[in-house]
This record gives sequence, C-alpha cells and structure tokens, in this order.
Amino acid sequence: MLNSEQLETWDRDGFVVLPGFVSKQRCAELKAHVEGLLADIDPDNEGAISVFSTTEQSHAQDEWFLGSGDTVRWFFEDGAIVDGQLTRPLPLAVNKIGHAMHDLDPVFSDFSRTTDMAALASDVGIAEPQLLQSMYIFKQPGIGGEVTCHTDHTFLWTEPQSVIGFWVAIEDATVENGCLWALPGGHRIPVKSRFRLDGEGGTTNDVFDDEPYPTENLVPIEAEAGTLVVLHGTLPHWSGPNTSPISRHAYTLHVINSEADYPADNWLQRRPELPLRGFT
Ligand code: FE2
Repeated sequence: MLNSEQLETWDRDGFVVLPGFVSKQRCAELKAHVEGLLADIDPDNEGAISVFSTTEQSHAQDEWFLGSGDTVRWFFEDGAIVDGQLTRPLPLAVNKIGHAMHDLDPVFSDFSRTTDMAALASDVGIAEPQLLQSMYIFKQPGIGGEVTCHTDHTFLWTEPQSVIGFWVAIEDATVENGCLWALPGGHRIPVKSRFRLDGEGGTTNDVFDDEPYPTENLVPIEAEAGTLVVLHGTLPHWSGPNTSPISRHAYTLHVINSEADYPADNWLQRRPELPLRGFT
C-alpha cells in the first residue's frame, strides 16, 4: 500500500497524507448515511440532549462519555444547547458521534474493514490489529470547536505504545474550516501525559512533563475529501475552531496491536460480549 517514499515520510514525520485513498463518491455516501442517522433522532426524546442540558453537567457528561466506548453516542458542540434547548437545528449542533461505529454501524464497519485499510495498518507495523475506536466528526460551521494539541497514545494507552490513527476527510478540510495540524517529527517526543480512569467514576490526567509542545512548529494538513492521513500514536496534532460557514466532516479510526497490553484503567472499555475485532 505505501511506497518506499511514503514509508520514509512516515518514519521521519510520524504522519503520511494519502490523497484519493477513498473516492469522493464513497465520502458522499457516508455523509448521506450520517445525515440519515441524524434525521432519525427525535430532539424531544434524545438522551444526549438531557445529558448536555443538565445542571450537573460534568458528572452526567462524564458518564455519557465513559459509556460511549462500546456504543454509538452523540456529543454536542459547546454552545449548541442553552437552558436545555438546542440553539440550532440538531444536524448543525452535533460535534461528533462515537466511539464504536466501526462495530455497531454496518456502513462504517464495512468502510473501516477494507483490504486497503488492513494493508495500511500492516505497512505501519501493526502486527495483530484490533479496531479500538471510531468517530464521525462534524466540525460544524461557525461553532465547530478546537481540539487541543494532544497525542492519541495519551487517550488510548497500550504497553508498549501501539495506537495508530486513520483520519479520513469526508469533506474538504482547509485552514479556514479547521483542518488538522501536526508537528512533523513530534512522534519522537516522549508522551507528556496519560488520561485514565480515576477509580472513582471519573477520569484523571497523569502529567509526566508539563512543558507545552512547540505548537509554533505545527503544519496544516489541508486535505481534499477522500484523503486519508495516518497519524502515529505519539504524534502531537491539533485542529482549530471552524469559524467559516463551511462544515468539515471527517471520520477517524484508531487501531491498536493486540500483542500490546491494554490497561484496565483506560477510559475506553468494552463489555465482554462486544470484544475488539480486527479487519476481518
Ligand atoms: Fe487525536
């Protein structure tokens, strides 16, 4: 799947950009599928809205988030719900859907389990791949929020590190609508923190190094719809708010190596009846 030049880029930069990995037609189909999912939601009878509307926000939202590892749940943009009411039509209020779309939604299962995707995982060194987490990200026009600079290993920890991210532009991503930015070579910087369960129903962040990443060295990854970006688990990356009138939909899939240890205090846990699976 990857040629020697792309593998060299991967080793040097910790990410590689693959334009045209997915057809624009396929992107349009996925977008239409998600629009159908959104159309089926009754805003007056939707648990997610009550969770995000409650006065005890942090606790209810923690539970909503922590229960999303093996379900498909909605998350809202900041400011999309005020006093229990949506401030805009629901399809323009959702921040993302996650985190087991690749197992529970047949369309995204098929999309995530192609021979091309499996070959790519093999090329970047995942010996025994397991599909851990997926998200459909909307980055809504006008209110799509910033995702602060982070590494995926911080959130999807394995011993040794193994997580790789596959980020697919479903729509064109530009600097204006909040494209991905990455720190070339930053995957060699030791990971600075680990996000984990705190044992009391919440989460905590173990900080090993509080020196911020040199974000002035981040480079934008503008990507046409259908582009796939492979991200090393220790690569710092960021995306800015979308202040433009154009949405920036993307799908991400995170894959780990089952030969690595998966800690019991990672935030993402699966019920035993829904074990992790590979590409087949
Ligand atoms: Fe990430």
